[in-house]
Amino acid sequence: MDTFPDDIFTEPEDVDPDTLANLGPLARLAGEWRSADGVDVNPKADGPERRSYIERARFEPIDPQANGPQLFYGLRYHIAINTPEEDIAFHDQVGHWLWEPATGLVLQTLSIPRGQVALAAGQAAPGDDRLALSAERGSTGNGICSTAFLEHAFRTDSYRIEIIFNPDGSWSYITDTVLTVHGRDTPFAHRDQNSLKRIEGPKPNPLAAILAKRKVG
Ligand code: HEM
Repeated sequence: MDTFPDDIFTEPEDVDPDTLANLGPLARLAGEWRSADGVDVNPKADGPERRSYIERARFEPIDPQANGPQLFYGLRYHIAINTPEEDIAFHDQVGHWLWEPATGLVLQTLSIPRGQVALAAGQAAPGDDRLALSAERGSTGNGICSTAFLEHAFRTDSYRIEIIFNPDGSWSYITDTVLTVHGRDTPFAHRDQNSLKRIEGPKPNPLAAILAKRKVG
């Protein structure tokens, strides 16, 4: 059972404006990443298709965000995926990763421009080498919402992401998306995995950059 305060309006005071210093277990995601080693298993009419992909991912610190007393630090991300043969970004994904220091809550929002959004949730602590978040169709707290065609043809029942931070500074992920494909008896395991290497470090969040500039000026 969640225990929320009676006062749902008062926002926290003395919030540290430096997001990079307060990202907890998300700190190692900040920056820009690339890899050509992605592997995707996706549903095609003739059965599962497996193909490799090239991924670029950017995670930018955002200013601290408060829902009344609830305080989040986070990153806005954009992932674009193509294949060695095709330049088109056939998988494009945006959203946020959020961390609530007070409770250890970690959230990932994701939006895929084919009419699908999800909110995945998990728990973690600063310094954790592993993150695991999940979303279930029908849940209001960590759910999945799809356009009517996807709901009919490729119903997305669950989504899970596991991230491992590697000792060399790279990180690896596996996403498991379970689809009920129209006319098929068994659920389809749509799996994606990759290991990303840093190509650029993170920049400070906008508020931290403004305050730093003011100090110098
Ligand atoms: C690295 C990440 C991902 C890659 C590379 C990827 C790739 C693909 C590909 C190639 C297809 C087949 C598209 C087609 O037949 O035209 C597909 C289908 C699908 N994917 Fe993904 N996917 C990824 C992540 C996800 C995630 C995170 C979700 C949902 C949470 C998702 C949901 C779906 C659905 C519902 C379909 C079936 C609809 C369709 O075929 O248009 N995918 N994916």
